[in-house]
Amino acid sequence: MDETRQIRDLAIRLAREAGAIQRDRYETDFQIESKGAKIDLVTEVDRLCEELIVNAIGEERPDDAILAEEGGGTDTPGAEWRWVVDPLDGTTNFAHGFPRFCVSIGVERNGERQVGVVYDPLLDELYHAVRGGGAWLGERALRVSDERRMDHALAATGFAYDIHRSEEDNLANFARMIKAARAVRRDGSAALDLCYVAAGRFDAYWEFKLHPWDVAAGILIVDEAGGRSSDVAGGPPSSSGREVVCTNGHLHEQVLELLRSLNPPRDT
Ligand code: IPD
Ligand code: CA
Ligand code: CA
Repeated sequence: MDETRQIRDLAIRLAREAGAIQRDRYETDFQIESKGAKIDLVTEVDRLCEELIVNAIGEERPDDAILAEEGGGTDTPGAEWRWVVDPLDGTTNFAHGFPRFCVSIGVERNGERQVGVVYDPLLDELYHAVRGGGAWLGERALRVSDERRMDHALAATGFAYDIHRSEEDNLANFARMIKAARAVRRDGSAALDLCYVAAGRFDAYWEFKLHPWDVAAGILIVDEAGGRSSDVAGGPPSSSGREVVCTNGHLHEQVLELLRSLNPPRDT
């Protein structure tokens, strides 16, 4: 088996193990704290999941770099392989007992996305992709939707944790999109939103001010399912997650058009 597939299999194993912790601890008592912004939470379970994933990567692949949301990894500069880990995407949902959260693990080789794994432990849904190998939900090949009409589209988005204090809050985009699409969802897990585009459940998704760990796996899964991903200008989506637009491809220009009218390119 080639190295990329070995890495995928390790990522799948770790996503399932961390997901099992989330399933066990869901709706139990656990510690919750806020990070920078008071609405930006971290729970004991986020940290436990991250520790499990980071320790196992360290044991099995000691030369690889790890960028993990809660700071447990070492993002070694110059490493060939880099793991980008969101141990629990959908923390606010998890903290409130709202059943939508997942583990997201993306792996890059020399800066290029190679492997994406997202696991929803409550639905036992495992999304995975290897560059060039298609996108999968378990053993089922995924394909984006064929929807071409914006007014028939189900779209999704999210809002950053600085929403209470920033005017760049995505609310005008949301207002415009919800008038153009059939409906817009805000479900609180960017990684699952991306996988839902790949699965044809959502036709389009956009979000700003995300982080690398939110999108590292999901963008590859969308691309491998035949979708299109970009920034608002139509260029490649930044790995930082600053601007992410993912659609079934057919609706991409229409979504970009709607977003551009409210997010004119800045001079700086
Ligand atoms: C958040 C979720 C949410 C998105 C936020 C993310 P977290 O990640 O993906 O859907 O709107 O911007 O930060 O904090 O639950 O890992
Ligand atoms: Ca996240
Ligand atoms: Ca997280």
